[in-house]
Amino acid sequence: MSARPRSRAAKAGLAVAGALLVAGTAVPAGADPTTTADRAASTMDTIVPAPESVKPNPAADFELTAQTAILAPGEAAGVGEYLAGVLRPSTGFPVPVNPALPGTGDIALALDGDPALGPQGYRLQVADEAVRVHATSTDGLFNGVQTLRQLLPAGIESPTAQPGPWTMPGGEITDKPRFGHRSAQLDPARHFFTVDMVKRYIDQVAKYKINKLHLHLTDDQGWRLQINSWPRLTEFGAQTEVGGTPGGYYTQQDYTEIVNYAASRHMTVIPEIDMPGHTNAALSSYAELNCDGVAPPPYTGIDVGFSSLCVNKDITYTFVEDVIREVAALTPGPYLHIGGDEAHSTTDEDYVAFMSKVLPLVEKYGKKPLGWHEYGKAAPKGDAVLQFWGTTNGDPLLNEAVARGNEVLASPANKTYLDMKYDENTPLGLQWAGFIEVADAYGWDPGSYLQGVPEESVLGVEAPMFSETLETSQHIEFMAFPRLPAIAELGWSPKGALNWESFKNRLAAHGPRLAASGQDFYRSPQIPWQE
Ligand code: ACM
Repeated sequence: MSARPRSRAAKAGLAVAGALLVAGTAVPAGADPTTTADRAASTMDTIVPAPESVKPNPAADFELTAQTAILAPGEAAGVGEYLAGVLRPSTGFPVPVNPALPGTGDIALALDGDPALGPQGYRLQVADEAVRVHATSTDGLFNGVQTLRQLLPAGIESPTAQPGPWTMPGGEITDKPRFGHRSAQLDPARHFFTVDMVKRYIDQVAKYKINKLHLHLTDDQGWRLQINSWPRLTEFGAQTEVGGTPGGYYTQQDYTEIVNYAASRHMTVIPEIDMPGHTNAALSSYAELNCDGVAPPPYTGIDVGFSSLCVNKDITYTFVEDVIREVAALTPGPYLHIGGDEAHSTTDEDYVAFMSKVLPLVEKYGKKPLGWHEYGKAAPKGDAVLQFWGTTNGDPLLNEAVARGNEVLASPANKTYLDMKYDENTPLGLQWAGFIEVADAYGWDPGSYLQGVPEESVLGVEAPMFSETLETSQHIEFMAFPRLPAIAELGWSPKGALNWESFKNRLAAHGPRLAASGQDFYRSPQIPWQE
């Protein structure tokens, strides 16, 4: 396993509070959304992630007008309303959904897709008289809609009305993902992020067909999800964060709001309760969870590996079961992430003893375990998933896992960690896994990168973002974009379409889109950004 520094601050070489505001001033977001470039027509060759098949038909451009309606019968109506919500602010058009009288030049969303498209695929046809999206499920329609918006000029992403024309290039796209699980992660434990900040990120990553949101809800610095049976976890354990500033937490109602919002973006939330390490916030909230019965003080630094639940106390398992029961009840998706990383204060023997009591609890409450790859030491059953976060291209634990039938979620830290600096000048982030420029994030193949892990054992990819240095949405955006779209493409696009020259030129067209939407991003010198 890769050596991770116990003191991340030492490696980071950063002044945590001081450096943080620099990103925004050095890299202003928001090009003027009324420039001609923004109004220029889009083409079919700038889509990210790259679709499986694109057949342009320059004779069949479509124009979205004040008369355009969305026809989305039955279960498609929700995706229709979502699309209307994207189109109305920037076009200023009414864009009715399922009006009594169809308009002219309508956009039709239909659940009549060819079964070969699979559960997430779609076919998008742009012709001069109409646009049609076909899929077998609303997930597929939603994915098609993300492509559709990329075919409109960049100004479509603006929150305020922009001049048209709103022309879409004619042709047909047939598309489906290489991996069904494409995940982004947020860490509201190190710095708390409000519900609105999480929703903002959900909307931003959904544009790139990310369909899972992994929330790292607990760590040494804070416990961020209300647990009714153990109220001090949040009454006490959520009060601070890294740097000692006030923390915060999600009530169960807040959390459900996030889960529902994610679902409305066809995204499943995967909650992580990290254990047995990364538990100082719990240990400081309840003295009885400590082996010596003494609660440590809250922790506001960024070291790792010093805390552990008390493996030999019965109350530990009462606690863990209560937490798993409540979290499982709030979780519509199949996975519950149990952390398991960096348990440096737990012996291997204790670690395995702990996990072998916890894994059946996950199952008892109807969930499948997901955990950082170290928990492979406990030989979890075949439906468990190991999330690889090492800085090399493999680990013996993965090979044993594959032999047991476990799947692997690929998030190699030196490729996918969005909290790593881009280069030595990046004002935010850490560097223990190295600098990650856009080409590094893009430069690996999830199906063949991990030694001894065949593509059929790869569940998908994730782009984690730990937030020791990240406090605001602007910070999140500066670190995630444009590396998140790079990882999203690795998760979605066919292997044969993965090509850096192609990606960087397609990504270049996304600068004006990101800017028009009012979000920040890093203007990497590797990308020939369009203005
Ligand atoms: C991790 O970065 N400790 C999973």
